[in-house]
Amino acid sequence: MKQQQQQTHNKMGLILLIPLFYLLFSLSSAEIAPKPGVCYGQLGNNLPQPSTSIKLIKSLKAGRVKIYDTNPKILKQLKNTNIQVSVMVPNELITFIANNQTLSNNWVRSNILRFYPKTKIRYVLVGNEILSLPDNVTWTNLVPAMRRIRRSLTFFKLKKVKVGTPLAMDCLEVSFPPSSGKFRLSVTDSVIKPLLQFVNRTKSFFFIDVYPYFAWASDPVNIKLGYALLEPNVSGYTDPVTGLMYTNLLEQMLDAVYFAMKRAGYPDIRLFIAETGWPNGGDIDQIGASIYNAAVYNRNVIKFLTQKPLRGTPHKPFVALPSFVFSLYNENEKPGLGTERHFGLFYPNGSGIYPIDLSGKTLEYPKGLPVPTNNEPYKGKIWCVAVRGANTTALGGALSYACGQGNGTCGPIKQGGKCFKPDSLWWHASYAFSSYWAQLRESGATCYFDGLAVQTTKNPSFGSCKFPSVTL
Ligand SMILES: *[C@@H]1O[C@H](CO)[C@@H](O)[C@H](O)[C@H]1NC(C)=O
Ligand SMILES: *[C@@H]1O[C@H](CO)[C@@H](O)[C@H](O)[C@H]1NC(C)=O
Ligand SMILES: *[C@@H]1O[C@H](CO)[C@@H](O)[C@H](O)[C@H]1NC(C)=O
Ligand SMILES: *[C@@H]1O[C@H](CO)[C@@H](O)[C@H](O)[C@H]1NC(C)=O
Ligand SMILES: *[C@@H]1O[C@H](CO)[C@@H](O)[C@H](O)[C@H]1NC(C)=O
Ligand SMILES: *[C@@H]1O[C@H](CO)[C@@H](O)[C@H](O)[C@H]1NC(C)=O
Ligand SMILES: *[C@@H]1O[C@H](CO)[C@@H](O)[C@H](O)[C@H]1NC(C)=O
Repeated sequence: MKQQQQQTHNKMGLILLIPLFYLLFSLSSAEIAPKPGVCYGQLGNNLPQPSTSIKLIKSLKAGRVKIYDTNPKILKQLKNTNIQVSVMVPNELITFIANNQTLSNNWVRSNILRFYPKTKIRYVLVGNEILSLPDNVTWTNLVPAMRRIRRSLTFFKLKKVKVGTPLAMDCLEVSFPPSSGKFRLSVTDSVIKPLLQFVNRTKSFFFIDVYPYFAWASDPVNIKLGYALLEPNVSGYTDPVTGLMYTNLLEQMLDAVYFAMKRAGYPDIRLFIAETGWPNGGDIDQIGASIYNAAVYNRNVIKFLTQKPLRGTPHKPFVALPSFVFSLYNENEKPGLGTERHFGLFYPNGSGIYPIDLSGKTLEYPKGLPVPTNNEPYKGKIWCVAVRGANTTALGGALSYACGQGNGTCGPIKQGGKCFKPDSLWWHASYAFSSYWAQLRESGATCYFDGLAVQTTKNPSFGSCKFPSVTL
């Protein structure tokens, strides 16, 4: 970086008319131009073909794309485009690769070499959010697998391809104030330090999935929505230790990671935002997930990331932050809370959910989008009922599953019970889902059942049959 800035500066003597500041920073960062990209997740049963998807990615003016596998159809479609590509080693392979160089070589040969250089593969990410999974055998194999993949890339002379692994913010034990950023103690020596050493030695990046949405949604009283949405004119936060002033939650979270790395002995590692985004929809009991907020967040993030001169963060000003916005599509097969299935920039039919482009050049404030109605937490009762017209075989399976959880979940729908009649699958499943969810929501149960269940504020109770509800 330093050297390039110097070169740029020398050229300056000749080109007197161009403002020095602008040229200095715009050229010096050419190597890792911010050019935000998009995550192309494929967990949907209704998504367009890769060829259509690549057209949409181009229409976004995305500089990069990240896929969560090495889908050959997608990698072929990306041939001879100018889009930089990030691919992923599946979690299940990590332990095998960590212990077998031949396997690693074979994997790189058939998943990278085969498409390189026509497809501009630039990053191989080993696993996805490994430290957020319960299986700690994979944790210890993570860095060894990264070393093997890197050795294979060197063996095949794929010098432009860097190796990393994206982690979620839960790799930190402390993230506030940002200057106190600290990795989880239980993984610091066993995983994080070897990882940082690898990243530092190979001049790769620390890839982090960073969602101000979830941080805000877990504490909307103390964190202002505008601060999470990167809106201007919100009151900032000053870190009491460093005196650094934060104007949005994203830079605050990123600095927590920088400070954690510094605390672990690696103050100079670069960050790569492996995922960020805001949900355009979600469940009734989820706050702030709306098309409007998603449009505002993503526009502000793009503006933040493409700003010239580069903005960086308060702790690392002017430093490039390469990034991926999550995600290309709303993905209907993602399990969990409703927001998981609503991070798309596009509906599965290829229509844009709101106008957006990733170049940062044509951004206006979003107009004509529906006004959000859920910026405050929902207050009232919610039930969880079966989707009308759901597959009856699957619904029967979900009904017995729900009844098998908790205590006395399905008593009232047994023959002679208060909710037995009407004796229909939809009715019984709806009772079971509501009862299951009301009992177990606190311990993490969701109202989803692979798309067979949906939340409702309309009380389904009937006659003397009272459906259990969640009360917020
Ligand atoms: C390593 O992987 C190769 C290729 O998949 C396989 O043939 C070989 O049996 C593996 N070696 C061990 C020790 O598992
Ligand atoms: C993995 O979990 C087991 C059981 O909880 C524990 O004994 C072990 O120390 C853990 N290993 C790592 C690397 O965290
Ligand atoms: C990180 O890499 C830099 C440059 O290669 C090197 O000077 C530094 O000593 C490394 N840091 C650690 C803690 O190994
Ligand atoms: C921010 O504040 C300035 C000055 O008070 C005002 O001109 C501008 O319209 C405000 N912008 C927004 C988005 O509220
Ligand atoms: C695409 O799907 C969305 C959401 O289901 C719908 O609102 C929109 O009208 C559809 N667009 C087209 C062109 O079918
Ligand atoms: C209904 O669900 C069952 C079990 O999950 C599955 O085997 C079957 O293919 C589904 N039928 C339809 C029409 O989707
Ligand atoms: C069910 O009841 C037993 C005994 O009262 C209790 O230990 C257990 O935690 C309960 N389970 C749930 C899911 O509430």
